[in-house]
Amino acid sequence: MSSNTTAQPSHNQLDTKAQAWSALFSEPMSDLVKRYTSSVFFDQRMWKADITGSLAHAEMLAAQGVIGQDDYAAIQKGMAQIKSEIEAGQFEWKLDLEDVHLNIEARLTVLVGDAGKRLHTGRSRNDQVATDVRLWLRDEIDLIAGLLKELQLSLVDVAGKNVDVILPGFTHLQVAQPVSFGHHMLAYVEMFKRDAERMLDVRKRVNVLPLGSAALAGTTYPLDRERVAKTLGMDGVCQNSLDGVSDRDFAIEFTAAASLCMVHVSRLSEELIIWMSQNFGFIKIADRFTTGSSIMPQKKNPDVPELARGKTGRVVGHLMGLITLMKGQPLAYNKDNQEDKEPLFDTVDTLKDTLRIFAEMIGGQVNPATGAKEGGITVNAEAMRAAALKGYATATDLADYLVKKGLPFRDAHETVAHAVKLATLKGVDLTELPLVELQAFNPHIEADVFEALSLEGSLNARNTLGGTAPAQVRAQLAKHQARLA
Ligand code: ARG
Repeated sequence: MSSNTTAQPSHNQLDTKAQAWSALFSEPMSDLVKRYTSSVFFDQRMWKADITGSLAHAEMLAAQGVIGQDDYAAIQKGMAQIKSEIEAGQFEWKLDLEDVHLNIEARLTVLVGDAGKRLHTGRSRNDQVATDVRLWLRDEIDLIAGLLKELQLSLVDVAGKNVDVILPGFTHLQVAQPVSFGHHMLAYVEMFKRDAERMLDVRKRVNVLPLGSAALAGTTYPLDRERVAKTLGMDGVCQNSLDGVSDRDFAIEFTAAASLCMVHVSRLSEELIIWMSQNFGFIKIADRFTTGSSIMPQKKNPDVPELARGKTGRVVGHLMGLITLMKGQPLAYNKDNQEDKEPLFDTVDTLKDTLRIFAEMIGGQVNPATGAKEGGITVNAEAMRAAALKGYATATDLADYLVKKGLPFRDAHETVAHAVKLATLKGVDLTELPLVELQAFNPHIEADVFEALSLEGSLNARNTLGGTAPAQVRAQLAKHQARLA
């Protein structure tokens, strides 16, 4: 063995990393390795969960007689002080103490002595960190569910004001059939409703307690894990200690749900970007969500939706990162799992910011004077209508009209194709062809065809559940309003 004369850790220095472990270590960690292995500069954001988890653990240890009530009281006091130090920005986070857990425990011991050293009885950082991440994520999921509700309310608000506004619906980005703009907005409400449901479903599996799994095998102390779960408001206790310390599928599942939600935001972004382009001119978004160009003075760019579309790639990337992180890890805990935090945190931050900004960009902000929302998207109903009148959006209605007159659908389809060809040649809409010319295609066509070919006639005819008829859209709107009230 080499001599330890130069590398011997000082026993007075509580905060050297070697000291964080034990006397077993004969040389301190190099600075590079310290930086490489530390997580304190990103996991400190879980400090509240760490303290909450520790207090629940200590309360149970005292109730079970593993530590004294006086120890528990000292731990409570020390943690209260640490909490106020952190909140005041006065807590000194030390890289040498690797992570949030060791930093808080070391400070506790400085503050309350032996009681602080007893806190870690029957516990390991492995079950501690798994508990902290779950507690932290549970609360974030609740915030996200609230933001998803706000976004749905914004979309419902815009939908409610635009049930009778008609725009072309597209398939393949080609004009297909006219639809209600309210109906179009409610399509996104359906997506975000499912996203909220998915979040709450993930929450059930997040809100389960690993603490008590200890390092991997459970512990020799008579812990009451159910009691800790109850104190922490958790729905249950991880039933296998090996799984409890090593499972991160809850984080993967959450990130998958977040990715899907971002994909929905991204689809909406793409539409907003297209709609506000000069060629469409369907909507405007408020200036505070756009930016100018440094060279082209006329420009107003949809940076917010574009960024949201871009950030979707970032969140999907985190999902790939996390799922790949798990692959190939043997049971139980491995340090790989420390890498779960940055992608998870960034997913939460990105999703929350995106949802918040979209709720406001779409629906606007409440004006305290009037109580009404202002500054959301501006809808240009005339531009939408003009676009819906182009591209023979009601051609299917002519086919349906002929079917009602007794023609088989396939024949009707063919007849209308000829009519569209003629109208295209003449550069007019179907409704601009004189009745006699339409009758040349089929003698059953009568004057009432023009009602069927109107945008309103086309919408009203689609009066099946989930269809775009204003009556259906109003029924859906009422359901969403009641659900979100
Ligand atoms: N900072 C660690 C993490 O995030 C805590 C658990 C460390 N456990 C261990 N045995 N090294 O995963």
